Amino acid sequence: MSVIRAVVKGCGHYLPERVVENEEFAKTLDTSDEWIRARTGIERRHFAADDQKTSDLAFEAATMALKNAGMTGADLDAIVLATATPDQTFPSTATRLQHAVGMIGGFAFDLQAVCAGFIYALANATALIESGHAKTVMVVGAETFSRIIDFTDRGTCVLFGDGAGALILQAKESEGTGEDRGVLSTDLNSDGKYNDLLYVDGGVSSTQSTGLVRMQGQEVFKHAVSKLASSGEKALELAGLTADDIDWIVPHQANLRIIKRTAKKMGVSMDNVVVTVQDHGNTSAASIPLALSIAVERGQIKKGDLLLLEAIGGGLAWGAAAVRW
Ligand code: ACO
Repeated sequence: MSVIRAVVKGCGHYLPERVVENEEFAKTLDTSDEWIRARTGIERRHFAADDQKTSDLAFEAATMALKNAGMTGADLDAIVLATATPDQTFPSTATRLQHAVGMIGGFAFDLQAVCAGFIYALANATALIESGHAKTVMVVGAETFSRIIDFTDRGTCVLFGDGAGALILQAKESEGTGEDRGVLSTDLNSDGKYNDLLYVDGGVSSTQSTGLVRMQGQEVFKHAVSKLASSGEKALELAGLTADDIDWIVPHQANLRIIKRTAKKMGVSMDNVVVTVQDHGNTSAASIPLALSIAVERGQIKKGDLLLLEAIGGGLAWGAAAVRW
């Protein structure tokens, strides 16, 4: 049966120049490089310069993705940009990016599902393509979490970093089997009764300020492994595949212990898991496209590989996608 698939045409990423090693936190807080590495796997993260906004990071990643795809901004029909740290409350960061890349028609919008944002954006972009609303869509995850971190809270400030990643998807007529290239399935979930586990203590209609990240780390950890594994299994089932078919799990890069336990629960060897968290910490919606682009650069991900993407974050919101590269 002939179907329309959203096929990957290119990807890119950007990390700001400023690198912050774990030791820097130990100068002002009761923490250490050993503690942060052992509990999270994070060794360093990048922070945006004072004059760099989320759209600037997104622009760099988008420029690399367009080059990688052999396209220009004028070839895009839509941009779906996932962020919890937009430049402004409005207009959307996506429309800033639209203008910056020279996209002259179509539409662009932001989407907010915190750390699960990229999976949500990918699912939306895929639906736009499969329904015929757009042919070529750029999916972006971009964040400046350094702007909403409480630098006096050692339980959260060591975890996050800034960055951006972008993926270009294009419609392609395909066979409708698990062997097709492209996004084969997506699984989205959220449960608002867990709002208080991970949130920002401010906002437009509540405090008229941005607020700072607050988190019950252990509680989030407990939900993460089981929800990521079950969503990953659901995405595989929807695509008619099993864990044995996976070439690479590309997980949200929040914590190495979560990544390892989820892989183990799914019966996938760590040899088949892309890990970049040591170098950029948790970049929220940017973490999966960053990891994808870095893994392609490293020569890990190759054309035809089956990838399982999975993420969880504030909401709680979580999801997974099966993608043949
Ligand atoms: N340095 C030193 N000690 C610390 C630090 C730190 N940076 N942070 C917390 N501690 C202390 C705590 O204060 C506590 O001390 P106490 O026993 O004297 O009270 C002790 O370490 C143990 O704290 P726990 O919270 O039990 O430590 P845990 O092993 O759970 O690790 C962590 C904390 C790393 C936050 C972990 O719970 C975690 O990673 N949770 C997942 C949260 C996450 O990744 N959130 C990101 C967004 S959601 C997502 O992306 C999945």
